[in-house]
Amino acid sequence: LRHLTTLENLPRETIERLLDRALAVRDACAHGTRKLDLLAGRTVLNLFFEPSTRTRTSFELAARRLGADVVNFDIGFSSANKGEELYDTLHTLEAMHLDAIVVRHKVSGTPDELVRHAMSGVSVINAGDGNRAHPTQGLLDALTIRQHRPDFGKLVVTICGDVKHSRVARSDVHALAALGAREIRLCGPAPLMPDPAEFPHCSFHDDFDEAIAGADVAIMLRLQKERMAATELPDEAAYFRQYGLDNRRLALAARGCLVMHPGPINRGIEIAPEVADGPQSRILEQVGNGVFVRMAVLGEMLTR
Ligand code: CP
Repeated sequence: LRHLTTLENLPRETIERLLDRALAVRDACAHGTRKLDLLAGRTVLNLFFEPSTRTRTSFELAARRLGADVVNFDIGFSSANKGEELYDTLHTLEAMHLDAIVVRHKVSGTPDELVRHAMSGVSVINAGDGNRAHPTQGLLDALTIRQHRPDFGKLVVTICGDVKHSRVARSDVHALAALGAREIRLCGPAPLMPDPAEFPHCSFHDDFDEAIAGADVAIMLRLQKERMAATELPDEAAYFRQYGLDNRRLALAARGCLVMHPGPINRGIEIAPEVADGPQSRILEQVGNGVFVRMAVLGEMLTR
């Protein structure tokens, strides 16, 4: 694996190898290993054009725990503000001998554009582009599910919320389909649902009670206001009544249904606090797995 811009069309064995690698890292950390020197002498650049708490921090931790040097590029104080074009910024940074660029951008396809324009042997990792892909989130979600429900062939997964604008939903579906999930249900209000042709593996629902009935996993998504037209924004109180996950709805799911959310969560809009903080919530476990998955991805890409 030289670059990771999407999970779409990634073979099942590659996804499983990355998940196995992440588990091996997690086990090493559980046995007290805090730092490895696998990437000693390598440099990883975090290039985030959109805000991030989880992804940026966990990529930095992952790279440092593998012994790499990390540069967090500060867009706000960069020459991008003086009109420098993205590809000139890329070539300038490449000239400083980077090994990997972790990029987040609001425009879908930017990571692939960087791959096309990169001049050196730098690896590009997508940390989220527009509504298109967030591959390491898809991997960490798959890892979290696999830890609790290893038999994907029996798995019913409901993804609910603003699916249309969600790069997480897309990468989750790519991972779940590759791993053989039995059923993937997408649920949300019609204006926030994507074109069904884009999701041939999924069933579509506008009734959340129906969509969560018997589900083994519920993945909740936030309203991505930053990607919405003003006309798409629902009334938040009405939205919570129809599409919020509370204890009543969770009781309709299969016993022990895993509650997941990529974060940041908006309490009282897509998820009730008692569910987000409840015994079935795996949200903080997802965050922890994010570091192991990103260690696995960096290790695989920079030691090939
Ligand atoms: N899940 C996720 O991408 O979170 P951040 O935006 O905080 O990185």
